[in-house]
Amino acid sequence: MNGAERFLAACAQKPVDRTPVWMMRQAGRYLPEYRAMRERVDFLTLCKSPELACEASLQPVRRFGMDACIVFSDILIPVEAMGATVSFNDKGPALEDPVRSMTDVDRLHIPDPQVHMPFTLQTLRALRAALQGETALVGFCGAPFTLAAYLVEGGGSKSFATIKALAYGQPAVLHALLAKLAQTVADYAAAQVAAGAQAVQLFDTWAGELAPEAYERFALPYQKIVLDRIRGAGVAAILYVNGCGGILEHMARAGADVLSVDWRVALDAVRARVGPSFALQGNVDPAVLLSTPEAVQHAAHGALREGGAVGHILNLGHGILPATPLECAKAFVEAPLTAVERNSA
Ligand code: CP3
Repeated sequence: MNGAERFLAACAQKPVDRTPVWMMRQAGRYLPEYRAMRERVDFLTLCKSPELACEASLQPVRRFGMDACIVFSDILIPVEAMGATVSFNDKGPALEDPVRSMTDVDRLHIPDPQVHMPFTLQTLRALRAALQGETALVGFCGAPFTLAAYLVEGGGSKSFATIKALAYGQPAVLHALLAKLAQTVADYAAAQVAAGAQAVQLFDTWAGELAPEAYERFALPYQKIVLDRIRGAGVAAILYVNGCGGILEHMARAGADVLSVDWRVALDAVRARVGPSFALQGNVDPAVLLSTPEAVQHAAHGALREGGAVGHILNLGHGILPATPLECAKAFVEAPLTAVERNSA
């Protein structure tokens, strides 16, 4: 099997010759060739230049040979296309004029992906040609709750106090924002599939901060709108939530084919809780990759054991950290091979 066949088979819970592997945020600052690009061009320009974004997406695949290639972009691109002012600094994303009222929600519009985000679609088309069917092409978008968190907080947050205050104090305002984001992201995801994405991952990174009943109201229905559009477009829908241990049973009702989980919960425990109808993706702690190749291999082999032979995609539990040594990234991507060698020895 080649990487694309292996990845797509695992998404569909069909047999594979070995477990497929890729890493969230695999294109990024731990790679010297990415840092060299970033010396010449800022992050948003990189996202909006198809030739450069294509190159950034391919860098990790060329170096390590992952089974899937994720398009280089950011979850905040559609938010900017809606009319928000987005910038990136050393501390992460910053959004001007945070959304706090119905008037603020009304100022945002629903963009046409072909008109307002043509660069991502062009990057996907170029990648699909460059990968030649050997490596699976993964598109992605941020989920409505996580995007709303950035819009309402005005950037990242530790406590998410502002969006939670809005959720509990003015739920109608947050629902109006979430509905607009859901339509935007669903249109964008469908356009990515039309441009060649063979699976789409929905990142609801911060939905794990919610109490289960709040997840039911403010995250789940909007995830479902986007995931239904992805599956309706004919490709696998992957749902990622960081810190999903408290809401797994709810997450299982969002309409995903693949559940991508963090390291705080073991894959065999996830399987026992969500039942047999999902492929699982994950879930090594990215901090393990700050150690030694031996420790990385040990942790990855543990995830491979717990994930089982069918319906598992080896990945990290969150994005790879910028300080990760290259030899640890390499040990992670090679872990499915070293596991096969060990089992047949
Ligand atoms: O996975 C990939 O390799 C594809 C590209 C990708 C990026 N961001 C590039 C990026 C993907 C899939 C994302 C998703 C994303 N972006 C998420 C969801 C996943 C997650 O990690 O939780 C979130 C929450 C964001 C928002 C975001 N973008 C943050 C919080 C930051 C700053 C933190 C950081 O790592 O710097 C970004 C910037 C960003 N997005 C970078 C990259 C490569 C670093 C920008 C740079 O080069 O300086």
